[in-house]
Amino acid sequence: MKKSKIVVASSGASGVNLGVKILQLLPESVEKHFIMTENSKKVLAHEMHNVTTHNNDNIAASVASGSFGVDAMIIAPCSMNTLAKIACGISDNLITRCAAVMIKEQKKLILAPREMPFSAIALENMHKLATLGIIIAPPVIAYYSNQQTLDAMENFVIGKWFDLLEIENNLYQRWQIEES
Ligand SMILES: Cc1cc2nc3c(=O)[nH]c(=O)nc-3n(C[C@H](O)[C@H](O)[C@H](O)COP(=O)(O)O)c2cc1C
Repeated sequence: MKKSKIVVASSGASGVNLGVKILQLLPESVEKHFIMTENSKKVLAHEMHNVTTHNNDNIAASVASGSFGVDAMIIAPCSMNTLAKIACGISDNLITRCAAVMIKEQKKLILAPREMPFSAIALENMHKLATLGIIIAPPVIAYYSNQQTLDAMENFVIGKWFDLLEIENNLYQRWQIEES
């Protein structure tokens, strides 16, 4: 069976470590690509196996072309700057170019915007993208999952993103009630 190709990117918002953690938790069955920014390079002290890395300024990277056949992309976290560029069709770096390719090829694109509070401009951009089928999934925790640590909270949001990517996972405690 063909390996699915997933691109992970983190733009310059708080929580830039989330991209690295996603890569660490993705199963071996996935072909992993990571677009590195100056910020994420600093976090990349971690050892990562089986990940193809691309510099954000390398607009000629494989993942910049629709013909490469990326199946899904997740930008986590996604800054308001990157969100705005994607909503306006600007492709001035590899992250925004790859996102534009996902949109034109009608492939799955998940954005995890990180800001608090969201401005009306950011909400307008999210609304525009959501109506085009882009999944807006910010790193928001749920309290039913009973996380006690930051690590568990991160696993909860990554588990939700994996659900959207249709990657089986046991990263969080799912909602359960006794049915009578
Ligand atoms: C420490 C720090 C934290 C930041 N956190 C956020 C954030 O959570 N969300 C956001 O939209 N921008 C945040 N910014 C601002 C972005 O980094 C800035 O707008 C930058 O231009 C984004 O560029 P990029 O989209 O190319 O990564 C932060 C900046 C710094 C220095």
